[in-house]
Amino acid sequence: MNEQEIFDIENNLMANVYAKKPLVLVKGKGTIVWDIQGKKYLDFTSSYGVAALGHSHPKIVEAINEQASNLISCHSGFYNPKRAELLQKLVHLTPKGLNKIFLSNSGAESVECAIKLARKFSGKTEIIAFMGAYHGKTMGALSATWDKKYRKPFEPLVPDIKHVPPDNLDKLQKAITENTAAVLIEPIRGEGGVRVPSKGFLQDVREICDKNKLLLILDEVQTSFGRTGKLFAFEHWKITPDILCLAKPFAGGLPIGITVAKDHIMSSLKIGEHTSTFSGGPVVCAAASAAITALQEEMLVENAAINGKYFVTKLEELKNKYKIIKEVRGLGLMLAIELRKDVAKIIQKGSDKGLLILNAGRNVLRFLPPLVVTKDQIDQAIAVIDSILGEEQNG
Ligand SMILES: Cc1ncc(COP(=O)(O)O)c(C=O)c1O
Repeated sequence: MNEQEIFDIENNLMANVYAKKPLVLVKGKGTIVWDIQGKKYLDFTSSYGVAALGHSHPKIVEAINEQASNLISCHSGFYNPKRAELLQKLVHLTPKGLNKIFLSNSGAESVECAIKLARKFSGKTEIIAFMGAYHGKTMGALSATWDKKYRKPFEPLVPDIKHVPPDNLDKLQKAITENTAAVLIEPIRGEGGVRVPSKGFLQDVREICDKNKLLLILDEVQTSFGRTGKLFAFEHWKITPDILCLAKPFAGGLPIGITVAKDHIMSSLKIGEHTSTFSGGPVVCAAASAAITALQEEMLVENAAINGKYFVTKLEELKNKYKIIKEVRGLGLMLAIELRKDVAKIIQKGSDKGLLILNAGRNVLRFLPPLVVTKDQIDQAIAVIDSILGEEQNG
């Protein structure tokens, strides 16, 4: 199939729900991807934060191949050594006490589980989420997602999920009732514009949850696995959640969702109350287990912290040079620049010049490079952004 045939088939046969870029990607290695014409791109999207280890990491490829040749499917109604290995590794990574895991297949599913779990454990129905939040698009997760354009067409949504403004303790406290089960929050809002919370806010949210006997659910689907320069973003604020939602990069590129909870909370779910056919499949578990080992052996969390600092310094230099940059923000390798204009054209120009970047809303450029990114690759990306912003400022 040639490029045009692929465009035509996907455009004609696939649900028209993705804002597609005119690129057919066929190969990836580390931070680089290639299109069908053989053109090379620096991938500063990591497939929306999935390819944190870089594309087609050899240890992931090996783990998938080996497991696929032994056993591809194994329902969680049976036992499997790769699943057991992964569960042990996950419990090792998470803070003490967070030691029961539900495996699923996506970020939204990890949030679905958290919402059901909070209701089942507490016997209460209300969940407090935040304006600007993104938690996915299945009905429960969507009900906690803020953006009206995603929610409105599908109402009525799951009841008793309300939103309060971020960084506002007063409004949060006023929203709590005797029927509130949990507070659900992204430590750094990703899709909502890469927004780091105000100083002390997350610690205060933890305290309010403790005082009111509410569960704190942290959605770390985008911020975990070293992305912010710590294994979990909550480490920056020295808090721990009662329920933790993980997904995106955890299986080295394969679909996974992970909900981790304290034992007494997860134990409130009884047999049959929350299951999924594919959850905890052996190939995904083998890949996730290999991904965790690679993250640790290659010191990628440390790399994200070091190279994140370098990257942010370079972005700050651009801010001093170009008035159209309003703000630089983020942590580790989860970074963004807010512009005083739309970013769609800039993203297209980046792609033309061999750099893939994401938006986060209309006027924010978001950078989620693989954690294996080098200083040299950051310099290359900065040079592309510099040249585009130069054109934009003068044009
Ligand atoms: C914080 C957060 N939660 C949940 C999701 C939903 O994940 P998925 O698209 O895998 O369902 C996302 C996806 O971007 C996310 O960033």
